[in-house]
Amino acid sequence: MQIFKTVESLNGYLDGCRERAQSVALVPTMGGLHEGHLSLINKAKECADVVVVSLFVNPTQFASGEDFEQYPQSPGEDIENLQQRQVDALFMPQIADIYPQSQESDYDVGELGQILCGISRPTHFKGVAQVVARFFDIVKPDIAVFGEKDYQQLTIIRELAKRKYNTIKIASVPIIREPDGLAMSTRNNYLSVKERARAPLFYKALREAREELESGADIALAAKRALAALSKSFVVDYVEILDANTLTEITHKSEEIIIISAVRLGGARLIDNIVFRRANV
Ligand code: PAJ
Repeated sequence: MQIFKTVESLNGYLDGCRERAQSVALVPTMGGLHEGHLSLINKAKECADVVVVSLFVNPTQFASGEDFEQYPQSPGEDIENLQQRQVDALFMPQIADIYPQSQESDYDVGELGQILCGISRPTHFKGVAQVVARFFDIVKPDIAVFGEKDYQQLTIIRELAKRKYNTIKIASVPIIREPDGLAMSTRNNYLSVKERARAPLFYKALREAREELESGADIALAAKRALAALSKSFVVDYVEILDANTLTEITHKSEEIIIISAVRLGGARLIDNIVFRRANV
């Protein structure tokens, strides 16, 4: 695996790939890699000749008072993991390489950035769209791979690609979970032993909501019961049941449903979701 720390050196490498007519897949990450990230890499390897992973903790997607400074980083371990997975190139830029001028974002993520996580993190998705657009401009990949764990992020990036990068294919991979059901996340490191033991109740409550919906429960009632169940163990930011394609209210046209939620547990904010095809809901 080759490691590039500047845009120029990465571009030199990518020019060579293009001369050899190799297709390029990009996997953007903030490091602290776990099996969830590594499943994106497997998908990227299936889809393209060359896999580029970026590792960059993007300051513009953190609001002041959030965990930018403490964000768990383990570059040594990450490099080892990526080498083992036979990633071709790792891009580890500095903030000044990504934002040579201003860190202001002019990416309007619209209504999609204001709902769900956007309510408690109003500038977050603007920062995500900004950095992803920057990576798309630098790497110009044929395909970019994202996780369904960050479902709202994935939806926003699909929109961004549709509007501005329609030559880049966006691929996604399902949520990778711990054996007890907790969605893998770098931020799970913030949980104490006691909190970690409680955390699987998050996915359990979402699964129960799905079961209720599938056995015919009314959507509003299922959402209310999920909120009550989650509130016993967590401080609930939101739990909503929506059309999975649009993240708006379910209508007779909705084909897939998402139960999507964010909760707080101690110092950690956890997100999770379940997407399923509408049968008799
Ligand atoms: P990060 O949290 O490092 O996640 C990088 C990618 O891994 C995202 O696409 C995310 O959805 C995916 N991912 C994380 N946990 C996962 C899991 N348990 N199962 C499947 N996929 C998982 O998301 C970001 O970084 C940043 O916002 C980024 C897109 C890199 C922009 O800065």
